Amino acid sequence: QLEYESDLVPQRRRTQNRKTEDFTEASSPAFANAPDTDPHLPANRAWGLNIIERMAKSSLGDAVVADHHVETVAQLETAISAAIDAGKVWQDLSVTTRSQVLIRIGDRLAAARSQLIEVMGSETGKTIDQADPEVSEGIDFARYYGQQCLELDNIPGATARPVELTVATPPWNFPTAIPTGSVTSALAAGSPVIFKPAPQAQRTGAVIVQAIWEALDEFGLPHDIVRFVIAEESTIGTKLVSDPRVQRVILTGGYETARLFRRLRADMPLLGETSGKNAIIVTPSGDLDLAVADVVDSAFGHAGQKCSAASLVIMVGRTAVSRRFHRQLIDAVNSLVVDYPTNPQAQMGPVVDEPGEKLARGLTKLEAGQRWNLTPQQLDNSGRLYSPGVRSGVQPGSEYHMTEYFGPILGVMAADTLKEAIDYVNAVPYGLTSGIHSLDPAEIATWSEHITAGNLYINRGITGAIVRRQPFGGWKRSAMGPGSKAGGPNYLIGLTDWHDEPLTL
Ligand code: SER
Repeated sequence: QLEYESDLVPQRRRTQNRKTEDFTEASSPAFANAPDTDPHLPANRAWGLNIIERMAKSSLGDAVVADHHVETVAQLETAISAAIDAGKVWQDLSVTTRSQVLIRIGDRLAAARSQLIEVMGSETGKTIDQADPEVSEGIDFARYYGQQCLELDNIPGATARPVELTVATPPWNFPTAIPTGSVTSALAAGSPVIFKPAPQAQRTGAVIVQAIWEALDEFGLPHDIVRFVIAEESTIGTKLVSDPRVQRVILTGGYETARLFRRLRADMPLLGETSGKNAIIVTPSGDLDLAVADVVDSAFGHAGQKCSAASLVIMVGRTAVSRRFHRQLIDAVNSLVVDYPTNPQAQMGPVVDEPGEKLARGLTKLEAGQRWNLTPQQLDNSGRLYSPGVRSGVQPGSEYHMTEYFGPILGVMAADTLKEAIDYVNAVPYGLTSGIHSLDPAEIATWSEHITAGNLYINRGITGAIVRRQPFGGWKRSAMGPGSKAGGPNYLIGLTDWHDEPLTL
């Protein structure tokens, strides 16, 4: 069996330099993103097929986390005290040692790449082409925050002090990258962490925790610095957040959950990355072939279950050009191979659970003026596998325009002008990612100036931010907290208690 980081298996570097903030000061140290696996190399294809074989043998949907103790709400007290005690050991270390531990966590995750891809596939239905870059992102987070923590001691005129305890409550849709980013950022800021995985992604969480604990072992450090809390009761999250010893919560999830946490703990800084309802605008000047590929990828990658996903495409101008784009888009979506990740050909996998009421509505109900260009079809009896849906005629102010469905549906809107299209995007209460396909510099400038979203992408897809190059975070209802972006230079400070140094006269 070929191991991922074997010298025999050259990898593919992600060299695309995409639109990002220019935050890099001359002084900031160089950073190399972990390469994804290049599927064009025969050795890597064999490696991928081997993962798929193992995935097929493991039982899909098995939620048992074999080696971990399932905590009850009553046992939380012990978990919190144990993490806080272990945190004192973590805080006594030099920042250089903490940085080394984080870098080793990145190395351990790299060694677990194939295991992570396998478990993500069987647990959440993520296809291998989506899972592989996600592992790279997780590695990047550990290494980047490992580098960034060295900077925390050097903020001119300020002192950053670690907090006593941070809770990380990540989602299931990026079950490697987001938990790793949340846990390692808190560690980099000097805090112990309680990591509560999403119920649908506990086995992936267990693999991550194993990698973290192995790195802690190398330095003789207690595992409780990162305490893994899995619980059967759904109240565990609110119980944890309500405990006054918890001083930061990193939440990636729904806007309503973030509001609930805020109500529970108005006194506590919450770093929340919440919902999105994202659009790509396509103007007649755009490269339409590229636009089709980017819209399909952004809308249907991981069956649309990304907060960054494109849920709307807005065509500017009601002309022959936009009609041609629309036709090509429908054909491209209709060509997607939909199946479980155990099929190596699958381009779009299942949804994680049987659709709840909202997604079920999105998959079945049309509103006034809308029609299906492609009607979503249920493909088996699992209730999880759907063909992709495309609806056109989405009207401004309609439910579809304003609602995040988190599934494999794309809505098409038409606008007479770019300004109108921008107004449609900005009318949405969320503002996470946003894209434009245009080859006209004046259009791009207008769009960049007026669009209200955190991550802007020009002439590319709108998912798949890359650590440090494209820090990730939203505006409006897509974010709560200090507003700094994950994977960017200002993220760690929000996880510390920092204050200005008193002036000495
Ligand atoms: N960071 C992911 C992306 O950019 C979403 O969480 O797609």
